[in-house]
Amino acid sequence: MTRRRYLVTGGAGFVGSHVALALAERDCDVVVIDNLRQGHREAILPGTKLIEADIADIAAVDAILADGPWHAVLHFAALSLVGESMREPMRYLTANASAGIALIDACVRHGVPRFVLSSTAALFGMPNRIPIAENDPVRPGSPYGESKWMIERALFWADRIHGLRSACLRYFNAAGADPEGRLGEDHHPETHLIPLAIDAALGRSGGLSVFGNDYDTPDGTCIRDYIHVFDLAQAHLLALDQLDHRSVTYNLGNSSGHSVLDVIRTVAEISGRPVPHEIVARRPGDPPVLIASAALIHAETGWNPRFGQLDDMVRTAFAWRDAHPNGFIS
Ligand code: UFG
Repeated sequence: MTRRRYLVTGGAGFVGSHVALALAERDCDVVVIDNLRQGHREAILPGTKLIEADIADIAAVDAILADGPWHAVLHFAALSLVGESMREPMRYLTANASAGIALIDACVRHGVPRFVLSSTAALFGMPNRIPIAENDPVRPGSPYGESKWMIERALFWADRIHGLRSACLRYFNAAGADPEGRLGEDHHPETHLIPLAIDAALGRSGGLSVFGNDYDTPDGTCIRDYIHVFDLAQAHLLALDQLDHRSVTYNLGNSSGHSVLDVIRTVAEISGRPVPHEIVARRPGDPPVLIASAALIHAETGWNPRFGQLDDMVRTAFAWRDAHPNGFIS
């Protein structure tokens, strides 16, 4: 049997690199297209080919897709900061939605049969029901969430009209690092809670700001459903198998929530050091609670997260961050 070939956009970024690694370990040929503005050359592991280009460069995308056949395109390349999208909405809609739709169009033109989208819980805005199921109302609270929803809708029509099968995978809070320490989370600037709490414990920052403790939650801080990046990668492989039969949409989380203070406590336990922190004002737009119902992917694919405990996520994230004080360049 010929080896399956996959094109991974944004495959040098946090989730994309872990998925590219999982595909390569499944004995597939993986080509990454990444502009390396947020991704890292060092996150491309041996055996995977990197093409340094922007997905908005349609001529480059066309040339790559013409060199098929491709089993699937997995699309991670995106701007992904909710707060930034509130300041620069058109930049987000252009970079994410316009470029994503142009990529789908190119896939249709080149006869790519399968497409996997890195989507987000940010589609749901301020949900009125927890846990959140796939068919709960979509009400994006930011241009970032809206941009992913626009791509989901384009995929709906690409399937209906052109037969392009797709998996829309809505991540809740991606966390952790490759359990073997080959990859980790390295954003510049870092805005995510777990890496920032680890930096505070390691004395690499002036301390962590906790954005509000007056929410309607048991300890007053926001609750999120953290999901290990290894388990996310496995979910992509299982979703790809579903595409042999039909398109799918899945919420990806652990169906359990942890508050900001829970995360701080866990980081302190695992690092063996206190996490200096202070309570500051709420961050605009933060929903008090986001928890996924992952019942659908569980029932349809048997997905069962292996690193489902917050401890597992913090332990692997801590190991990588401790060993890489300057991220991938160290
Ligand atoms: N938080 C702090 N201090 C910080 C950083 C975060 O208190 O310095 C809090 C936030 O207010 C929030 C929680 O920690 O309550 C988690 O915040 P993150 O920034 O780590 O993650 P978000 O939940 O805001 O967003 C993440 C992704 C989004 C995605 C969303 C879906 O960054 O792209 O999960 O759940 F849309």
